[in-house]
Parts: sequence; C-alpha cells; structure tokens
Amino acid sequence: MRLSRRGALASALALAACGRQAAAGPEPGPLKSLARFPIGVAAMTGQFDDLGWSELVRRQFGRVTPEWEMKTEALAGPGGYDFQRPDSLVSRAEAMGLKVHGHTLVWYAETSREFERLDGQKQAYAEAYRAYVTTVAGRYRGKVTGWDAVNEPLSDDGALRDCRWRRNLGDGYIRLAFLHAREADPAAPLFLNDYDLETRPAKRAAFLRLAEGLLKAGAPLTGVGTQTHVNAALEPGAIKAAVADLASLGLPVHVSEFDVSVKVGQLAALRAEGLEQRQAALAAETVEAVMRLPQRQRYGITLWGARDRDSWLRRPPEDRGLIRDRPLLFDDNGRPKAAARAFAGALS
Ligand code: G3I
Repeated sequence: MRLSRRGALASALALAACGRQAAAGPEPGPLKSLARFPIGVAAMTGQFDDLGWSELVRRQFGRVTPEWEMKTEALAGPGGYDFQRPDSLVSRAEAMGLKVHGHTLVWYAETSREFERLDGQKQAYAEAYRAYVTTVAGRYRGKVTGWDAVNEPLSDDGALRDCRWRRNLGDGYIRLAFLHAREADPAAPLFLNDYDLETRPAKRAAFLRLAEGLLKAGAPLTGVGTQTHVNAALEPGAIKAAVADLASLGLPVHVSEFDVSVKVGQLAALRAEGLEQRQAALAAETVEAVMRLPQRQRYGITLWGARDRDSWLRRPPEDRGLIRDRPLLFDDNGRPKAAARAFAGALS
C-alpha cells in the first residue's frame, strides 16, 4: 500500500512529536518515492555485499555516486588504467536498478604515476590529459546520469588551487576537462563541484565567477554541485542561501555530498537531542532548498553515505577522539533518525 504524501507527512509529524523514540518507528519514505528529484547515496563496491547496506539503499535511494572507484587513484594501474573497480561498481548498481553519478574526472587531490612522469612536458601532458578524460568519460557514456567533471577547483579563499593539473596545463585545465568530457560523452550533464559554499561567501562568489567565466568561454558546463558537508552548528538559512545563489546561473544544481557532522566543538556539550534536532532541521532545510528550484534545476540530493557507520567521517583520518560521528539520515543499524523523518517530511 503506497502511503500518500499527506499520509507520510502526517505519520512523520506524529512520530516526531513522540520525541526520540520516533527513531525506532517505521521507516519513513521511501525517500526516492517521496521526492520529485533523485535521491542519491555515496557507494563503494564492497558495500553491495553488505545486506544491511544494500537493502536500505534499495529501498530508499535511486542513484549512487562512487565514493572512490572512478577517481584517478582507483583507475591507475601499473600498465595504464584498470577499470575493474568502476566497472564492478557500475554493474552492481545497475543490477540493483540504481543510476550512477560519475565522480570525478579531474580533482586536485588525485593524480597517477603516468601523469607524474610527464610533469613539465607540456605537449605530452596535454595529450595524456585529453586521453584520460575522453577514455574515462567515453567508457561510461550512457551509464552515468552526469559527471563531476572538475572537483574542488578553489581554495578556501576562493583562489584557484595550485595543483599538478594547473601547473602543467595552466588555468585552462578546467575548461579543457569540460571540453574533453563533452567530446567523449555528448549528453551527460557536466558539473563543477566544490565544498564550503555555505560557509565561505568569498569562495561561493569565486565559484560563481569561475562558472560564469567557463560558460562565457564556451565550456560545456551544464551543472553545479555544492557538496554540503556541514555540521550541526551551521546557522539556519545558510544552505538555502547557497543553493539559491548557485541556482542563479540557471543550471541544474546538485547537493552532491550531503552530511551533517554532530562532532562540533562548543556544541558537543549540548544534549544529544539538541544536536539531533539541529541535524534534522538542516536536513529539512536542504530538501526545501532544492524543492524551491524549478524542476529542470533539481539534479538531486546525494547523501555522502547510507548509514552513520558508512560515513567517511567514521574512517581515519577524520574519525578520531572519543565521540563517533553520526552525520547521516540512518543510524549504524540502518534505522531512521530524526534527520530521516525531517528529510522525508520536507519531501512530502
Ligand atoms: O579500499 C582501497 C584499497 O583497496 C586500496 O589498496 C587503498 C590504496 O590507497 O585505498 C583504499 O581506498 C580508500 C578509499 O577511500 C576506499 O575506502 C582510499 O585509500 C581513500 O583515500 C579513499 O578516501 C576517499 C576520499 O574521498 C579520497 O578519495 C573517501 O572514501 C571519500 O569519502 C572521500 O570523498 C571526498 C569526495 O571525493 C570529494 N569531497 C570530499 C569527500 C570527503 O573527503
């Protein structure tokens, strides 16, 4: 029996009114059915064999973003590129009826020995760069709903990051990434993706300027991603402001890596309910921010993990100290938290 949207909202509100024991109530959602846009989740191949993970993901989510397998580091093998990892993730996702968002073609944090060997050889480097981007984008043509063509191009202050790609190809490495990706895949939306756009106004302004510059230069930029890795201390409204600002470009917007850390300094003293409720409020705000967009600009919301235990924030080096973070919608056992109910309630 499919719960109507009103029914889902009523049950979510009723359960929320019961306080924390609501977390033990029936699972809200499924989120992917309540939403009028894709609800995604970060995934790693090994997780598909974890029944707790795969059953929750099957029920709640409609798309995955490879947390690692499509990155340069995961593809680079001794004799060129080894696509076993990403191919395996794509086939597991397809077998579960999940779409795939490609992440990420070019990222300052990743390179490979092949590129390192070409450092300083401009022509050879440019040829290898084009070959890499066209090979990877070409291989998954028709298999991904879009690509993070360039990830995290800006430093915290909004300046272009210094990175291997820029040192060898100049500032134009960003435009080239989009051109090469489009050459290999004529249809996939190509995203510029970055983080802290909610908390660093100068970085967000620089991101918008970079996007506008790329569009003016004819780069096939067809989407913007705001990772939205935030914490429970974030002031209400910051996420809505960032999404609205980014949407001013008129392009599809992807909340691409959403999580809300509850390991926040001065707030750590707050009772757990205070943090859980702030996390829930930010989850609802994120949904409302995307719901405000025209349908053509709603590329979706991707959670950077299914259960708290799956979060990158629960792995070294982030996972340190006594408090274990609980940054996602579902707890370590896959049970819905207040954040899941608030997220579902806002979708309804
Ligand atoms: O599992 C492999 C192992 O088989 C391999 O031998 C080893 C070699 O280094 O790597 C292991 O993979 C690790 C991978 O996560 C899977 O667990 C990598 O070491 C590790 O670097 C990788 O970390 C990922 C990180 O990006 C760097 O790629 C995190 O899972 C992932 O959550 C994180 O995600 C980033 C986004 O891409 C961009 N935005 C920020 C976000 C958080 O840092």
